[in-house]
Amino acid sequence: MTATRGLEGVVASETSISSIIDDTLTYVGYSIDDLAENASFEEVIYLLWNLKLPTQAELDELKQQLAENMELPKEILESFKTYPIEKVHPMAALRTAVSALALYDEEADAMDKEANMRKAVRLQAKIPAIVAAFARVRKGLEPVAPRKDLGFAANFLYMLKGKEPDDIEVEAFNKALVLHADHELNASTFTARVCVATLSDVYSGVTAAIGALKGPLHGGANEQVMKMLTEIGSIDRVEDYLQEKFMNKEKIMGFGHRVYRKGDPRAKHLKKMSEKLTELTGQREYYDMSVKIEQIVTTEKGIPANVDFYSASVYHCLGIDHDLFTPIFAVSRVSGWLAHILEQYSNNRIIRPRAEYVGPGMQKYIPIENR
Ligand code: SDX
Repeated sequence: MTATRGLEGVVASETSISSIIDDTLTYVGYSIDDLAENASFEEVIYLLWNLKLPTQAELDELKQQLAENMELPKEILESFKTYPIEKVHPMAALRTAVSALALYDEEADAMDKEANMRKAVRLQAKIPAIVAAFARVRKGLEPVAPRKDLGFAANFLYMLKGKEPDDIEVEAFNKALVLHADHELNASTFTARVCVATLSDVYSGVTAAIGALKGPLHGGANEQVMKMLTEIGSIDRVEDYLQEKFMNKEKIMGFGHRVYRKGDPRAKHLKKMSEKLTELTGQREYYDMSVKIEQIVTTEKGIPANVDFYSASVYHCLGIDHDLFTPIFAVSRVSGWLAHILEQYSNNRIIRPRAEYVGPGMQKYIPIENR
């Protein structure tokens, strides 16, 4: 038995939810290009959970269920005040609050399909509310309750900023949510599947996935990209900054992918959105710097940009705090995690790979006085 580092190339399960074949991404066979241009995030949530696009009636029902479930238990809002709030990263707050949500859900440990679908709606609805409320409470602002007349993308921005977003902001954020919704067996999705394959509950699966997404090699990369853009500061400093990184053999955040070799199909949509939003908000230098970084890294290193690279300048232009970028990834990706959790339950076997033992051979116990 020899170990495959990071399970590279290992096919760990079957799925009908999303596919990455020859650098083409589909959700249930619908190409990400088609969905990014045409679908609302709510349509994508329905598609991932039911493996078909919704009728108007089915979509309206899901939208109503999400809007009705966005309200948070007051205990969760109160709990934020017990955190050392200025030191808590929003991903740690999200991980903690989602775990606590289970304590107030009578169905938390129910395992029938209907209960799990109800919990999926509650988690999909409450996670954006947690991110928005925490972002406001940590600034001494009151949480803003969701509005029943707003769609998912608009409601998140409204709860976050306390004012209704304009059409361009809603269109951009909806597209970002669609692009981040699912991605086959990425680390956080695989984490969720391993967790619930023991027949543990949905809340445990989503909490575990949030922990995995938090890492800078995965969902945490978008915040690191923004940190890089801020550190570089201007386009004339890009070349020197990158050459130093290359010399120190440091990873350039927002580049590379375990599966994509020619390029991440999501990046082009976010690049277009970054150009539009930086132009509109008078912050074109972020886009120009990003293009120059991409040009140097792809030509000198042959490593293409991934989904996290241009999403950084998009979220920045939407006026979102940089440490909220990864929680926003979670707001979208929880739709995929939940789809995979439901699929895992429907055809389950505990996930238990082997390890190649490379430690010492057989040894006799030595009494402590002789060590
Ligand atoms: C996401 O899996 C998914 O689908 C994830 C995701 C999703 O939608 O769920 O797509 C979202 O997480 C995107 C990735 C975000 N992470 C980053 O942008 C962090 C920077 N990227 C790298 O850490 C890396 O590219 C990974 C983690 C994305 C992929 O890691 P791999 O497949 O283990 O690749 P590796 O680290 O083994 O690198 C292979 C080679 C190495 O060179 P050598 O040591 O062989 O000479 O490529 C180099 C690496 O040094 N390399 C990079 C690099 N990525 C790979 N060199 C510089 N900068 C980089 N970003």
